[in-house]
Amino acid sequence: MAQLAQIGGQPVLILPEGTFRSKGRTAQENNIAAAKAVADAVRTTLGPKGMDKMLVDSIGDIVITNDGVTILEEMEIEHPAAKMMVEVAKTQNEEVGDGTTTAVVIAGELLKKAGELLEQEIHPTMIIRGFNLAKDKVLKAMDKISKPITLEDDGELKKIAMTSMSGKSAYAYSEKLAELIVRAVKQVAEKRDGKIIVDTENIQREKKHGGASEDTELIDGIIIDKEVVHPGMPKVIKNAKIALLDAALEVKETETDAQIQITDPNKLQEFIDQEEKMLRNMVEKVATSGANVVLCQKGIDDVAQHYLAKKGILADRRVKKSDMEKLAKATGARIVTNLDDLKKEDLGFAGLVEEVKIGDEQMTFIRNCKNPKAVSILVRGGTEHVVDEIDRAIEDAIGAVGSAVEVGKIVPGGGAPEAEAARELRKFAESFSGREQLAINAFADALEVIPRSLAESGGLDPIDTIVALRAAHEQKRVEAGVNVMEGGISDMTKLGVIEPLKVKTQAINSAADAAIMILRIDDVISASKLDKGGMPSMPPGGMGGMGGEGEY
Ligand SMILES: Nc1ncnc2c1ncn2[C@@H]1O[C@H](COP(=O)(O)OP(=O)(O)O)[C@@H](O)[C@H]1O
Ligand SMILES: [Mg+2]
Repeated sequence: MAQLAQIGGQPVLILPEGTFRSKGRTAQENNIAAAKAVADAVRTTLGPKGMDKMLVDSIGDIVITNDGVTILEEMEIEHPAAKMMVEVAKTQNEEVGDGTTTAVVIAGELLKKAGELLEQEIHPTMIIRGFNLAKDKVLKAMDKISKPITLEDDGELKKIAMTSMSGKSAYAYSEKLAELIVRAVKQVAEKRDGKIIVDTENIQREKKHGGASEDTELIDGIIIDKEVVHPGMPKVIKNAKIALLDAALEVKETETDAQIQITDPNKLQEFIDQEEKMLRNMVEKVATSGANVVLCQKGIDDVAQHYLAKKGILADRRVKKSDMEKLAKATGARIVTNLDDLKKEDLGFAGLVEEVKIGDEQMTFIRNCKNPKAVSILVRGGTEHVVDEIDRAIEDAIGAVGSAVEVGKIVPGGGAPEAEAARELRKFAESFSGREQLAINAFADALEVIPRSLAESGGLDPIDTIVALRAAHEQKRVEAGVNVMEGGISDMTKLGVIEPLKVKTQAINSAADAAIMILRIDDVISASKLDKGGMPSMPPGGMGGMGGEGEY
């Protein structure tokens, strides 16, 4: 379908042959349908009784999850409007770490309602105007019902962590996990210019399956999933002076393809002696720096290991690059790429380095680091899938607790803030005429998708629930939300269901922005050959799940 333009009766080709184009209502309908499909894909996972999804990729790898952003990342979504919805989840994940499903579900519902208005011949710019007005009002309404929280409110912070983990398989152990998460967040939190900053990057998570989930623990320091390389080395070093090497303690040539022709047996011995001398020299350099722990990103030759052991130095090899960076930050060491450069000043410090047996494997713990803000959570669980899902739940909860203390405000959960904002919006809408009023009311209806979905996934009647919820909010019960566990409407704060305000405001912001962006589009032009995230199409399974996965 070549694209033609008319100039003085002459057709002019402006787009390449084979370009696909949809315009006007068709484009809008397609985009809305695609966005709605994305929202529907995650809606049933919402809330404490939400179901999990099993995702199988093209090479048969399985992920079982309840986490909105994970589901969308694993699905190989191609439609451009649908990808914008995935962006909503990713933004939410980056900004807050929790509330990804909520954000996507609201965005989908906003577009569904907008679609209904378009059918009534209401112009998109009118809908957009109404949505923008509504968004600001919602943010204010939610702020109005928020309550302050501080870093000292351990009990409340724990409830936030538990609310975040409800519905995830981690919930069974959420008491213990919540306590550990709150401790971790409190440890990394710092005050800067009177503001609390929680850099969640400082909380490392290391996964190890083959144990019980309740064995998940918080470690003061960094965990490396490596064992001490030589049995003759010490397994515990106090007051560790740590060298971080991004250089092999090996004599390279023999490893690569250099061919050495030795005819004389004496020459062979000479060669071996020579090599041994070089390795010994390397170890000497490490020892001279004063290091008693060497963490090496590359390999360590057996002979070098032997000499390191003789000097009482503890060493790990093939440490992951990402761990090296964390270690540098935590211990204050500089990663040295050339052994000749290694000096005393490059060494990092930790109170204790020790090898610890976890399950049937050995790991190395770098405890009491120079930077006390470095903490790690060792995530345990029976199988890899269990550990992965618990790890995702912990990640969400860390994000929730972190943003609660950063912003210092919390709201009740269970659809209470959405219901309260919807009520305020409907009142607000009355001051506008006709079409804008319709758009603002549509925004209010869309927000109620959260309590409605919570009711549905909890097996409650969605219509009865919404009616009761609206009535409660009319009676100024701003904390009223869906009691998913026992049915009916309850005070969410009394139930301990609380969330950071930021989860809600970020979700509203990105959902509204994405919906508005999609509504503005009335022309979709795409090159037909470009699917799979901009890569040329491939035979099915041709590159084992590369392509569209996670890149757009
Ligand atoms: N015990 C509970 N009762 C009612 N609602 C709850 C409860 N626990 C969590 N929720 C609600 O579930 C929703 C979050 O569900 P979740 O599956 O974690 O999705 P998201 O990815 O949006 O965080 C929030 O609206 C939260 O208030
Ligand atoms: Mg959540």
